[in-house]
Amino acid sequence: MLDRQDRIEKALDAALPAPAIAPVRLHTAMRYAVLGGGKRVRPLLAYGAGELACAQTERVDSVAAAVEMIHAYSLVHDDMPAMDDDVLRRGRPTVHVEFDQATALLVGDSLQSLAFQMLSGHQLADDARRQLEMIELLARASGSRGMAGGQAIDLESTAKSLAVPELEFMHIHKTGALIRASVALGARCGTGLSDTQLDQLDHFGKFIGLAFQVVDDVLDADSSTATLGKTAGKDARNNKPTYVSALGLERARELAGELRDNALRALNFLPQEGGHLRQLAEFIVLRKF
Ligand code: IPE
Ligand code: IPE
Ligand code: MG
Ligand code: MG
Ligand code: MG
Repeated sequence: MLDRQDRIEKALDAALPAPAIAPVRLHTAMRYAVLGGGKRVRPLLAYGAGELACAQTERVDSVAAAVEMIHAYSLVHDDMPAMDDDVLRRGRPTVHVEFDQATALLVGDSLQSLAFQMLSGHQLADDARRQLEMIELLARASGSRGMAGGQAIDLESTAKSLAVPELEFMHIHKTGALIRASVALGARCGTGLSDTQLDQLDHFGKFIGLAFQVVDDVLDADSSTATLGKTAGKDARNNKPTYVSALGLERARELAGELRDNALRALNFLPQEGGHLRQLAEFIVLRKF
């Protein structure tokens, strides 16, 4: 993990415009939002899937940077006063606090564009049609029928009590879609997996993506601001429906384990029984922040 985290840090650093390039404030804020923090789970999943597909690591670098940029943009906007109104992220003031709201909006806009520049400006696949499909995959996962749509459901669900199927729908979109796409895109940087294996891997991505947000809900209720690097207890304070509010802490924790087991079963059909993805799935459920 440390090796891969170091690799993605360098790839992101190289891809982001230098702070001295105009407009300086925007580029400084983009770098602040992306660099020097975060677990890099989505890039790690892309690298893990890429390994199974025998992908060239340089190709996975571009995909890993793209998914992390979309993720970082989603966090910057998620923290803004119009959404969750958070002041702390990755142990530092949020972008709109450190800079200002207009800059935070533009940081999100620019990171999203840069993500698609990463996918379209580098060779990811031998076949141009396959590369186009990869770009479409990320577009779908981040748009109104993916992450952004999930965020819309999250906002309109505030102060409502959702049943588990509705919560599942929200979580699969707001967080699951990008995690699922990270796995799918990493795998598509190589040609080592059959269509059946890609389907198995997609099952893994779907379930581990849902597990990820269930754990995020648990940690919000059960951990501290110091450990999380973001304000703990915010979901209850913001009156958000979560797996914890629906099921209680104990059952939500159990469910995360069940979702991980379901995800892991799909890896049995893959080379090296899923290799590093198996360890990442454990990490996603056992993590403390
Ligand atoms: C937090 O994501 C927001 C969600 C989508 C649940 P992460 O827990 O991956 O945040 P970082 O990137 O490690 O800061
Ligand atoms: C965020 O979910 C999901 C996205 C940013 C797409 P949360 O609002 O629960 O994430 P945190 O807890 O602020 O990191
Ligand atoms: Mg939110
Ligand atoms: Mg939030
Ligand atoms: Mg949360």
